[in-house]
Amino acid sequence: MAVVSEMMKESIEQGSLIRQMFDLGIKLKQQYGEENVLDFSLGNPDLPPPPVVQEAMADLAKNLNRPASLGYMQNAGFAWALEALAEELSKEQGVGLSRFDVMLSCGAAGAMNAFFHSVLERDDEVLAFTPYFGEYKFYVRNHGGILKTVPTREDFMPDFDALEKSITPKTRALIINSPNNPTGVIYSEGVLKKLVAILESASKKNGRPVYLVSDEPYRYLAYDNCQVPSVLPLYTYAVVISSFSKKYGIAGERIGYLAVSPEIEDKELLMGACIMSNRILGFVNPPVVGQYLMKAALGSSTENALSVYAKRREIFCDILDNAGIEYQKPMGAFYIFPKAPDGDDELFIKCLQEEKILGVSGKGFGLAGYIRLCYAVEERVIEKSREGFKRAADKARSVKQDRKNV
Ligand SMILES: Cc1ncc(COP(=O)(O)O)c(C=O)c1O
Repeated sequence: MAVVSEMMKESIEQGSLIRQMFDLGIKLKQQYGEENVLDFSLGNPDLPPPPVVQEAMADLAKNLNRPASLGYMQNAGFAWALEALAEELSKEQGVGLSRFDVMLSCGAAGAMNAFFHSVLERDDEVLAFTPYFGEYKFYVRNHGGILKTVPTREDFMPDFDALEKSITPKTRALIINSPNNPTGVIYSEGVLKKLVAILESASKKNGRPVYLVSDEPYRYLAYDNCQVPSVLPLYTYAVVISSFSKKYGIAGERIGYLAVSPEIEDKELLMGACIMSNRILGFVNPPVVGQYLMKAALGSSTENALSVYAKRREIFCDILDNAGIEYQKPMGAFYIFPKAPDGDDELFIKCLQEEKILGVSGKGFGLAGYIRLCYAVEERVIEKSREGFKRAADKARSVKQDRKNV
């Protein structure tokens, strides 16, 4: 008897790579002790939220004896929270946004689901460059769409020809994610302008907007003074999706948003659809506590986080150099996506597990031959993995050599 749908069965199978790693992490930690498992598999920021968040939480707790203090509010969020967000995003994105151009949601994940729920017809196609954040596949499929992947160049920058060839009358959106999970690449303004030119011409040809969905939760983490250009001033059909999960270390509080270009036609209809989707997807409204925490945290400096992660990045690169593993130095975010020795990511992941080091196979991001390591992990844990990486890489190489010799 079919207790679940075929689609969900498939989703569970496809989503199993990160899940398996998560379960394995728990098992290994029980077996060998928390301290002895070096877990680089999860993108959960380990830095505490800014002190203002703790103060805001305490203030909120003291003021709960008002009617409906933790009750429902408008489906887009509190007006005061939307105003504060619009003001902050106007500075960040370089366009004047009002509270009617933004919507708060349950994380960037909730915002992306609300957006695709609002714009996709059945079997519409959404494009994403490989490697990509694996959850996109589900966020698109949840709403009847199909995620189509587009290859990148060796340096993980967009392949514009491949993008043009991937566009069909069914193309509805391109998702970009800069700074990128898992590669850490950041797109320059020149790259964004080329993407926009392609989407502009596709929109004209298709007779409906082909949206540029810019997923930006790592915008605050750009190293070496690298700039993360804004998409809203570049394209009428650009949509920014992001959250405070990573920026302020409040991922579990589920507070994120979407913002549209103030120039977009039928803006009221589009925003109305997204807000309705927020409601009928069952989120109903963004979390109350998250909105208070966001308001308090907006404008807090992220300089300290940037320097902590920059240092960890250097240590990780040094460890990979020492193990003779090829990688591209991340320009932003807190991930690194090295090549597995001889391109065998499954073997390398297995050899690393024998050293009690956890990473995720590139297959989880649509690109085999690589692994993803997350350095939202204390420096001493990264340092402790040095010899393990070397042994695992040597072992993977020698297993491959043995196989070739057979
Ligand atoms: C690229 C990317 N987009 C979106 C999300 C979802 O984040 P949120 O917690 O805001 O839903 C994540 C989380 O890891 C991510 O890495």
